[in-house]
Amino acid sequence: MYFGVDYYPEHWVFPYGGTVENPEAQWTQDAQLMHAAGVNIVRLGEFSWGLCEKEDGKFNFDWLRRVMDLLGDHGIQVVLGTPTAAPPIWLTKKHPEILPIDERGLVKHEGTRRAVCLNSDVYWTFSKRIVENMARALGDHPQLIAWQIDNGIAGNFTEASFNEDTRRDWHGWLEAKYETIERLNDCLGLRHWGQLVSAWNQVPMPMYSPTVHNPALTLDWNRFCSDTIVQFVGMQAEILRKITPDKPITTNLRALRHKFDHFDLAGVLDFVSIESTAAIKSRPAEIACEIDMLRSLKKDGIKTPDGDVGFWVIEQKAGNVNWQEVNSVVRPGVLRMFTYQLVSRGATAVLFFRWRQPRIGSEKYHGAVLPHNLEGSRRIYREVAQIGEELKILAPALKGTKVAAEACILYSHDNEWTLQQPNPPNKFFSLREHIQLFHTALHDRNIVVDFARPGEDLAKYKIVVAPSLHLLSAGDADRLKLYVQNGGTLIGTFNTGLVDEHCIAPDSGLPHNLADLFGLEVQEFDTLPPTEENHLTFKGAFPTSHLHPAKLWCDLIEPKECQVLATYAKDFYAGKPAITMNTFGLGKAIYIGTQSHQHFYHDLVAWLRNMGGLHPLLKVPENIEVSMREKEGSRVYFLLNHQNSPVRVQFYKPMHDFLTGNMVVGNYDIQPHGVLVIDEHPEAKPVN
Ligand code: GAL
Repeated sequence: MYFGVDYYPEHWVFPYGGTVENPEAQWTQDAQLMHAAGVNIVRLGEFSWGLCEKEDGKFNFDWLRRVMDLLGDHGIQVVLGTPTAAPPIWLTKKHPEILPIDERGLVKHEGTRRAVCLNSDVYWTFSKRIVENMARALGDHPQLIAWQIDNGIAGNFTEASFNEDTRRDWHGWLEAKYETIERLNDCLGLRHWGQLVSAWNQVPMPMYSPTVHNPALTLDWNRFCSDTIVQFVGMQAEILRKITPDKPITTNLRALRHKFDHFDLAGVLDFVSIESTAAIKSRPAEIACEIDMLRSLKKDGIKTPDGDVGFWVIEQKAGNVNWQEVNSVVRPGVLRMFTYQLVSRGATAVLFFRWRQPRIGSEKYHGAVLPHNLEGSRRIYREVAQIGEELKILAPALKGTKVAAEACILYSHDNEWTLQQPNPPNKFFSLREHIQLFHTALHDRNIVVDFARPGEDLAKYKIVVAPSLHLLSAGDADRLKLYVQNGGTLIGTFNTGLVDEHCIAPDSGLPHNLADLFGLEVQEFDTLPPTEENHLTFKGAFPTSHLHPAKLWCDLIEPKECQVLATYAKDFYAGKPAITMNTFGLGKAIYIGTQSHQHFYHDLVAWLRNMGGLHPLLKVPENIEVSMREKEGSRVYFLLNHQNSPVRVQFYKPMHDFLTGNMVVGNYDIQPHGVLVIDEHPEAKPVN
């Protein structure tokens, strides 16, 4: 298992470290301290373009080679970042046209990372050259085990730029997609407000304008910008694969925060790496949801340096960040616990961001493993070193293990982009919040969840939740039907099937293409402000722990073949169905026509469990998070206590505690922010 840090040796040369005689002297001490903390991997180089190519065409990678040699002497391997996230100043001065233009037509100027338009031919040419030169100079270094392409692609609000090169590519993209102007006009619905075009070059980019652009055009713009980002990364991947075919390729992603299709991007990578800010937030279920989303980006074809089939955490914030209003330090034990949360959900490498707080630049007060002053606090260093020691113990048991989910939540970027457009039916509705309600309910019952796009093969999941698939193509709708037909349980909701993939509303009733699956028709929908709510009245066996509200959105449902599970309690649609269930083929399609509070989703999961569909991993008190990684013949369970107080767990069978080597049976108190990693004690395993 890889365990390491993100290191910026360029910050630690004289006059910030080292001496006049030996400007790089600090590097040796760094490597020694890393080795002592159990570090076996370091990420380097992702912002080093201006240092490796100080002048146009004059390359010097020797200093990086020296760092890699030194790390090698200390048994540390390297992931190299291609440095295209930060163009050098000389490049911008020579070619100011690479600077990105914003939606108001204003140039975003040089002097920071990401000051580029990703459609710029010039930028592509120079990027190809630096990547190629870096790969030729360092690709054969024995310490190099993987590449990270760029850094935080699309970060700092750089998903789109409105340059002339972008306009050219946009028109080319539309032409490739629609082939004829007539088709473009029809599919984008440009006759609305009479915005028909007669040539490709008339199609606007959705720049600052008096009112909202055509939603179909904006959606295509999002898709085009996403494709640009994926192609830029793909271009680099191709160069690297040619020069160093045996070095797997990754890049660092944040939890679907930036506007590009993360599934598509994962498709051009060999493995996914993620950034985690877990330790600065304190809502474990939300963090778990992010981890599950990111783990799910690449389910097949994973190629990692050690052959393991998981994802990497390439930036686990080692403490506070510097971009919140108040950046409090991370409390003792919290970093360790959230690192275990990542490992328990499938991480096969953890690298802490960053090795040491820099003395220079805009991230001076960002937390790090070590502070500016090496003689100062080593609190985080000690915690990190402890995690390193523990992961060494766990590594053999975790090798080759995977997280296997029974439940799946559907998510697509197109859908989210559509829902983010101006003038939705209810501005207070948030897809992420809706998803989180389901995920939290499953998480709190320790049911493992994957995410998938609606078009994926869902056959392996016992239940599939499809929250608010507002945009749904006929093909994806067919796949959902097939899944239920073959015995699956699908939970669909309000705000589904309102438009097709061209953003066109159906004239055949709602939910588009799924009315027969759910055995109902949505005749109208009412949206409510956050200050108002309706209530649900339940029928039959659905367990209700609370009075459940109907919030934000109420579908007015005309039942056809479906069974009604709950109705609305008031307003002119009192008594009308709100929640239904339909048998379709061998499976069941449940429809929830409204949004409720968290308790409802907990009750829903309890009901699904009773129907025999789902199995919690272990029976533990509610406030313990359980995850499991498994491989043929073995299962490793992680129990995390996110509370500030101990939580008592009871084991009816003897379990083996990996970290102490002891056996646990009967009552066991998991300490505040404590972690227990166990499997069934070998002797106690049933023989089969
Ligand atoms: C990341 C980025 C790092 C650093 C960090 C600060 O997104 O990749 O370079 O800026 O945020 O938290």
